[in-house]
Amino acid sequence: MRNPFLIEAADVAQGRNATGAFPKIYVPNERHDERLGTALFREQGTALKQELKEKGALLFRGCGVNGAKDFEGVLDAVPFENMPYLGGAAPRRQITHRRIMTANESPPDEKIPLHHEMAQTRQPPDYIFFYCETAPISGGATTLFDSRAAFDLLKLVDQSLADQLETQGVRYTRVMPAITDPASPIGRSWQETFLVETKTEAERVMQGQGLRWQWLDGDELRTESPVLPAIRLDPVSGRKTFFNSVIAAFTGWNDTRNVGHRAVQLGGGAYLPAAVFEQFLDRARTEVVNVPWQVGDMLWLDNRLVMHARQPFEGPRQIYTAIALESE
Ligand code: FE2
Repeated sequence: MRNPFLIEAADVAQGRNATGAFPKIYVPNERHDERLGTALFREQGTALKQELKEKGALLFRGCGVNGAKDFEGVLDAVPFENMPYLGGAAPRRQITHRRIMTANESPPDEKIPLHHEMAQTRQPPDYIFFYCETAPISGGATTLFDSRAAFDLLKLVDQSLADQLETQGVRYTRVMPAITDPASPIGRSWQETFLVETKTEAERVMQGQGLRWQWLDGDELRTESPVLPAIRLDPVSGRKTFFNSVIAAFTGWNDTRNVGHRAVQLGGGAYLPAAVFEQFLDRARTEVVNVPWQVGDMLWLDNRLVMHARQPFEGPRQIYTAIALESE
């Protein structure tokens, strides 16, 4: 897309997907650098959003987005329809009253595996956004994987598993603590997960989400999702996507309460064949793209198309996030 106010930064290291540079990186056009921040996105938002639906990932560097308020202002200006963070697993803090939260605050030395945001729930967001308030000293890149490419790769590795995932769907099982456990990447308490205070309120939300549940000792809560689709069709490209939380659950849902390999099942009840799935993950490592953060960077992801992950890091790292639905 030709944009009078932004130019593509071809010199910044980036990967490729079927649509070209991935993520596509925009920096301000020097001849028009007075048009930055919220005003720029109010003017250009519709076109950029359209582009996001094709590319899957856009990174804006040096575009005059300074802090949580600006970040929120941009998302309001485009606009992207705000969505509350209901049903997510990660420990996080609210930054602005309405839409900005911290990204997953799990321990820095742990990798957060690839996932589509909240794909383990019935209504995942259509978009997820990140903003870099403080860049880490080392590491901490956000890793991206185009799920259209991921599905193609899985078919190459094992057509039968790809077929099973497509026809059967998947079910996720997770045990949540009574009090948020910051030592775990999926340590969000059930109160914070469902934005409630009492068990009765939690049960009402779980019923609405189609979850089955069981209360355990110490007020821990075991939940089982309904069978959810694992493969979807992207209407824009006509390609199928590996849209699920299978990688995250299989590799990352490990803590004192959960075992990853048992956290995800095919709709028919079988666990994933571990050796085959490991082979898929090995091959995936060579296809992902790492995006290192600079202060002021804003990354837009179409959550229906692209998975994200977090690399381990050192030093303070403050990444803000927000999610959104497709607005009318
Ligand atoms: Fe995430």
